[in-house]
Amino acid sequence: MKHYTQIQDITNLKQAIKEAILLKLDPFKDQGIGKNKTLMMLFFNSSLRTRLSTEKAATNLGMNVMSMNISNAWKLEFEDGTVMDMDTTEHIKEAAQVISQYADIIAIRAFPTLEDKIKDESELILNSFKTYATVPVVSLESATGHPLQSLTDAITITEYKENPKPKVVLTWAPHPKALPQAVANSFIETMQLMDVDFTITHPEGYELNPKIVKHTQVNYNQDEALKDADFIYAKNWSSYQDYGQILSEDESWKITKDKLGKAKFMHCLPVRRNVVVDDDVLDSDQSIVIQQANNRTFAAQYILKNLLENL
Ligand code: CP
Repeated sequence: MKHYTQIQDITNLKQAIKEAILLKLDPFKDQGIGKNKTLMMLFFNSSLRTRLSTEKAATNLGMNVMSMNISNAWKLEFEDGTVMDMDTTEHIKEAAQVISQYADIIAIRAFPTLEDKIKDESELILNSFKTYATVPVVSLESATGHPLQSLTDAITITEYKENPKPKVVLTWAPHPKALPQAVANSFIETMQLMDVDFTITHPEGYELNPKIVKHTQVNYNQDEALKDADFIYAKNWSSYQDYGQILSEDESWKITKDKLGKAKFMHCLPVRRNVVVDDDVLDSDQSIVIQQANNRTFAAQYILKNLLENL
């Protein structure tokens, strides 16, 4: 693996899940691998789980970790050939090469604008680092994907499934703010690689990128889609077609105890209680969101270990 910016960077997902579960059983067994190696984490946006779990993963491997909220650095220019006489101070060409001298792996969180679909889909920030950095780059969630989260989700489903081919449903849920499609995109791409019976459900108008959804079943009737589910994964996203817009705040899409049935409840967190999902779902034994968040460490640890082994 040269970089980790999409789930497809993993050549054998089943084996990766198996190895991540083994790392969880013995997290310090590879302490020597990261000795004298540094992980640099750059945050263009907020984070709780990604920041802490990735730092923990790196520490478990014996790495040093440096983190920076990029708003505290010089404002970066990403466009080529720009006359930099406005508010950007440093070009990514210098910044990425300089940072590469301080770090063995660079990890970046950079959300979409949700205003300019073409710009967001170009993944300008992530791809600029991939172009100009001289070390591996890891996505900590980009404009269009969150592959560390979806590897985590795959590990969690594997751990908790009670039959060989569980029914997994990704359902849109209401939210007061316009959110990216990144978590849903990566979850879909990951489920397509797993042996699961997978369905997506959302209100009309919330269709995701057809290049990602491909032939995955989409059902506009949430009740029908959730029937007999083993795992319900709730997530809000803003419209892809009417890019970045909130088309519906239909409360009837909230996950309730009635809708849950016998399923396990999953969410990437943070989650807005009683907007996305009711308290009595989140507080029930069927919710595995805390265990899911714990797996963020072992997903990150698997990826960092793999990158270190290939330096
Ligand atoms: N799920 C997730 O990525 O959480 P954070 O935004 O807190 O990192």
